[in-house]
Amino acid sequence: MPADLAALLYLASAVLFILALRGLSNPESARLGNIFGMLGMAVAILTTVLGARTAAYGEMALALAAGGAVGLVIAFRIKMAAMPQLVAAFHSLVGLAAVLVAAAAFYHPAAYGIVDALGQIRTSSRVEMSLGVVIGAVTFTGSIVAFTRLQGIIPGDPVVFRGQHALNVVIGVIIVLLLGTFVHTPSTDVFWVVTLLALVLGVTLVAPIGGADMPVVISMLNSYSGWAAAGIGFTLENSALIVTGALVGSSGAILSYIMCRAMNRSFLSVILGGFGGEAAGQAVRAADRAVTAGSAEDAAFILKNASSVIIVPGYGMAVAQAQHAVRELADALKRRGVRVAYAIHPVAGRMPGHMNVLLAEANVPYDEVFALEQIDSEFQATDVAYVIGANDITNPAARDDPSSPIYGMPILDVDRAKTVLFVKRSLAPGYAGIDNALFYKPNTMMLFGDAKKMTEEIVKAL
Ligand code: TAP
Repeated sequence: MPADLAALLYLASAVLFILALRGLSNPESARLGNIFGMLGMAVAILTTVLGARTAAYGEMALALAAGGAVGLVIAFRIKMAAMPQLVAAFHSLVGLAAVLVAAAAFYHPAAYGIVDALGQIRTSSRVEMSLGVVIGAVTFTGSIVAFTRLQGIIPGDPVVFRGQHALNVVIGVIIVLLLGTFVHTPSTDVFWVVTLLALVLGVTLVAPIGGADMPVVISMLNSYSGWAAAGIGFTLENSALIVTGALVGSSGAILSYIMCRAMNRSFLSVILGGFGGEAAGQAVRAADRAVTAGSAEDAAFILKNASSVIIVPGYGMAVAQAQHAVRELADALKRRGVRVAYAIHPVAGRMPGHMNVLLAEANVPYDEVFALEQIDSEFQATDVAYVIGANDITNPAARDDPSSPIYGMPILDVDRAKTVLFVKRSLAPGYAGIDNALFYKPNTMMLFGDAKKMTEEIVKAL
């Protein structure tokens, strides 16, 4: 394929990726955004295959078929609730790919066309290679830590130890110094020592972050994986990879910033790793305090007499797949003339936009769904807050108790509604591992049970 045509097709794929990001920023246009993304990827893959400097089409077809088959099986089998760990696992592969490409280019620079007249690796390529391998290695191990934690293989609590920041700084400084020598005189030993140190840094950066701060880790690794891909793009002299990597890197960075704001955390402290972890994850329980428990019939009676209801979905709605039942409940209430709205916290569930996706799947009208800042002031004029499978995002301790590990995180002020109907199976804490003061408030009625089953029973009772 002529180089000009390849450049043009890569440009087209980059435009399609930008349109995909734009589409994905709104639930209404998200499907179209996905289609643009798939088209962009198809154009990029075809251009790469047809424009390859090798004629090893058999191997490429085999790799594409194997990768595509694995992707297809995962896409069909993955549960929505397991999406964040899947994303973390995919990020780790991007990181690993960056390390492997850098290693391949280091051992066979001529095959990558990155040698100068003397047969040495070009200085600019040494810099690109160094960045690719460091960011890739950090992304690889950091994502594995995030994956194992989200999958429940290791505890969700942050691993905090004395001197962790000093250790990260020391490792970071040694990496920078070694990279300086590598760029000056590339050596196999330095290459692998840097790789090893970056792999360790990935663990020491992510391990201290846990509990309610995990959303920031996911979006941060998203960003790192983008920059790692952009690094590979420079080594491979592939403009599509550079542009796509930069898009993922910068959109991940923007998402991290939004997540930090949602959690009321400082961006810098996240980048440095391990913030607010000192107390997070402590399981503070108050099981011996009294709660008011009710049945589906009690809830139906209260809802029947309400004139406004705000539904607050959380992770438990995703686990129970209760979104369709929730929509039925809203429909039943609307038929009775009750005003219904949905309030979405930015970190509800386990991934950005988790609740929006579920509600869209159940065909909940977009104009009934509101973000925290749009709806929070409405709670005090609302009769019933129907909290379904949400926990941390409603915990008044984040607002009222300076000693709480989640103090400062914005919450949905559901406790200001006249009545709170709280659907969950037990008094167990949410992801952050802390007790929720809301369970014990006089205006709260606990509805113990599975979110889907309980909601269906309420609809029946209505
Ligand atoms: P959580 O605080 O995790 O609470 C979810 C609640 O759902 C649990 O307390 C659980 O209580 C209940 N639940 C589980 N299965 C249920 C079922 N089948 N039926 C009814 N209830 C069920 O969720 P949240 O309020 O959505 O807050 C999100 C948390 O996850 C935050 O701490 C956030 O920082 C963190 N996080 C978010 C993300 C992103 S990006 N959104 C990523 C990683 C972590 P029972 O066991 O008693 O039923």
